Amino acid sequence: MILRHLKKYAHLAVLASVFMVLEVYVDLLQPRLMARIVDEGILGLNNGGVSDLHIVTGVGLKMLLIVLCGGLCGILSGVCTNLCSQNFGNDVRKSAFRKIMSFSFSQTDRFSVGSLITRTTGDVTQVQNMVSQMIRGCVRCAMFFVAGSIALISLAADFGTVIVIALPLILLEIAFVLWKTNPLFRLLQSRLDRMNTVIQENVAGARVVKAFIQEDREIRRFAQSNDELVDTQFRVLILMSYMRPVMNIVLNLATVAIIYIGSLRVQAGAAAPGTVMAAVTYLSQILNGMMMLAMIFQTVTRGLTSSQRLREILTTESPIQDGTGAAVSAGGSVTFKNVCFSYADHGADVLHNINLSVRAGETLAVIGETGCGKSTLVNLIPRFYDAGSGTVEVDGTDVRDYPLSVLRDKIAVVLQKSELFSTTIKENIRIGNPDATDAEIRKAAATAQADGFISEQPQQYDTPVAESGMSLSGGQRQRIAISRALVKKAEILILDDSTSALDFRTEAALQKALREKFRDMTKIIIAQRISSVRNADRIAVMENGTVAACDTHDNLMQTCKIYQDIYASQLRKEDA
Ligand SMILES: Nc1ncnc2c1ncn2[C@@H]1O[C@H](COP(=O)(O)OP(=O)(O)O)[C@@H](O)[C@H]1O
Ligand SMILES: [Mg+2]
Repeated sequence: MILRHLKKYAHLAVLASVFMVLEVYVDLLQPRLMARIVDEGILGLNNGGVSDLHIVTGVGLKMLLIVLCGGLCGILSGVCTNLCSQNFGNDVRKSAFRKIMSFSFSQTDRFSVGSLITRTTGDVTQVQNMVSQMIRGCVRCAMFFVAGSIALISLAADFGTVIVIALPLILLEIAFVLWKTNPLFRLLQSRLDRMNTVIQENVAGARVVKAFIQEDREIRRFAQSNDELVDTQFRVLILMSYMRPVMNIVLNLATVAIIYIGSLRVQAGAAAPGTVMAAVTYLSQILNGMMMLAMIFQTVTRGLTSSQRLREILTTESPIQDGTGAAVSAGGSVTFKNVCFSYADHGADVLHNINLSVRAGETLAVIGETGCGKSTLVNLIPRFYDAGSGTVEVDGTDVRDYPLSVLRDKIAVVLQKSELFSTTIKENIRIGNPDATDAEIRKAAATAQADGFISEQPQQYDTPVAESGMSLSGGQRQRIAISRALVKKAEILILDDSTSALDFRTEAALQKALREKFRDMTKIIIAQRISSVRNADRIAVMENGTVAACDTHDNLMQTCKIYQDIYASQLRKEDA
């Protein structure tokens, strides 16, 4: 699943392995040449015990040359490996991001933002490490082991017994450490998730934290998640730190054994001193290869944990998929038929049996106390969520039958929380319609009653907005968000409590401008204040997830108890 992204770079992996083989081959040649220098050159064993300097310089030069070649191969192998693993990681990150963008609202909630960030950053790095270890490490380790053992045994078969004894000890140790560290890796990543969530919440909510003087509490909360992370990391490192000393003990014992066997053979005249030297070097190469194997196992198990976490992102399919119905009519009518809805982890129904229709071009206001399901209701229209039962229709077609882009093209939504991005005001508005001209942007802003304050900004429309719009007031943010929706010129406009921070006069001006300039647009306006809704064609009064009544202001004042109560309570507040 994830490794399929490697296919494109397989040629690089192959090249890297070939260069690696050459590099290790050179390393394996060295001990033999060294043995020749000692035995034939210095000790002059083939020359009646007289040193032969020709051999020393000749073989020495040859060694130098092949070391240079080996180095070059090493560099090339490294370059190919990194090209392969970096490009691979880049691809994985991009597809993970693309996937996250396709997630439904409920899926993003389930993963948590902190975890999605760790997965697209840290986990990708772990998988990258795994890939480069597998390319370089496996070849290196296998060659050192196989070719090194052959070279060693070809020097003298007795040396083989040393490997046979040392090897199981080392494998046992690797297995033990892996067995212990393995479960810790998943824990480690989930603790990283936790820490990232704390950081992200606090940086995003820094103002709230300061306003409530909660810095100390939040610092403690961060310290705790950080401590937990360090604790887990520490346990991994402690376990890993056993590895090297124990390996070293085995390595040294094996070396002593080789020297002992070797000196017996030299005494018996069956081997030369240089050969024993070569044997010691081969042995350390073999055991180093084993040590590398331990590292590879560690990186690979860690990488597998991370790739599992990435797989969870990459295999998650959004339940909100394109529909296949093609017949698309224009207009902008919306109909809810027997709609029920509940949030997955919320259990109880949030909307019960909603029947409501909005004619094309009509302005429907929605009023009701907080938590009664107003936002949930409008979120079903652009399919931010899908209805549990019943159907939502736009222009007579079930929303699930539209291709998503066609459906969402018909609708402009201003969410309850106006999200702005850290770019200029103009670009924030242009998100609604990337092709909008400056004049169109101005016109939309004028309707949204935003043109005035934008013109007073230091660089007018080119003024940068701080992250999440922190440089603007709530009412200014709302008006920019409304401009963004208006510039889209969609058939249906949904304002989810988007004028709550505006004063009465500005709101009245906005509603008048909307009525006059966007006459044909269907408008669904959620609001808290009677003053915001009384001019609508009809007002839906919601209570506990149902539509209690839907009529004009005047009629509701006559017939609807809930509406009368809202009206009365707001009058009392104004009087006070
Ligand atoms: N993402 C969500 N996950 C779970 N429950 C939610 C979610 N959003 C809203 N709710 C719950 O659904 C109910 C209706 O919420 P909402 O539609 O936002 O109300 P309103 O907009 O009328 O204030 C509330 O009880 C709220 O707690
Ligand atoms: Mg709401």
